Amino acid sequence: MGSARYDTIGRNYSQFRRTEPNWEAQIRDALGGAQNVLNVGAGTGSYEGAARSITSLEPSRVMIDQRSEGAAPCVQGVAEALPFASDTFDATMGVLTMHHWPDRVAGLREAARVAPHHVYTVYETASAHTFWLTDYFPETRLLSTEKQAPNADSIDEVLRVVDEQVLWVERGCVEGFAAASWARPHDYLNPEMQNAISLFALSEPEVRERGTAQLRADLESGAWHDRYGELAELERADFGYRLVVAERR
Ligand SMILES: C[S@@+](CC[C@H](N)C(=O)[O-])C[C@H]1O[C@@H](n2cnc3c(N)ncnc32)[C@H](O)[C@@H]1O
Repeated sequence: MGSARYDTIGRNYSQFRRTEPNWEAQIRDALGGAQNVLNVGAGTGSYEGAARSITSLEPSRVMIDQRSEGAAPCVQGVAEALPFASDTFDATMGVLTMHHWPDRVAGLREAARVAPHHVYTVYETASAHTFWLTDYFPETRLLSTEKQAPNADSIDEVLRVVDEQVLWVERGCVEGFAAASWARPHDYLNPEMQNAISLFALSEPEVRERGTAQLRADLESGAWHDRYGELAELERADFGYRLVVAERR
């Protein structure tokens, strides 16, 4: 089941996945005056500096065990069955978690039950699949998480979307999500780093091996720079990551 997935693929998550300051600032702004926030699919605790009072919810024990001592209190559970009374929170938030939920509609209904305001980071597959890395691993465009990736329209089927913002990926992005190292292609050759990205972790071993070997060869021959060298000019790029702000209907 999707919720137990990170017990397997999240083992070295905290080593590679860190808080991107620009994203955290955007999330903080979008939360507005919310005092009491539920962080759904909180993982190891990145982005919990976005609000003063956070309660976290996370299904994977492996992820919970990587949370630092000072992290927010974390309850084990899933978005689709929040173990909280109605209207417990001012807001819910979630960072790159919704595409893993087996039942997005149920999760969003639960979010609306426990809070009136909602801030989620998601990615648009149409843009994400133009990212150069997916040329090396085209099979990843067909993963179940990609097919069920939410966007503002699908969130709006349950909540009322009031704002959508681009989450730019800076050249020096310190996070470890799929496109974070867009300007540092050699990073993607590291198998440990790949393990902390679900797009790789959910792929068949032969898909990973073939794509990694091709990327290594293209970096050595200069073919990568010939194809994607214009990226070297950019300070930041848009790979389809979006901040969606919504209200209870
Ligand atoms: C890519 S990680 C993001 C973790 C954290 N939000 C962050 O930004 O570092 C996705 C998280 O969603 C969690 N998740 C998967 N299915 C879930 C569900 N049904 N309900 C809540 N969280 C879920 C995973 O266990 C994992 O910790």
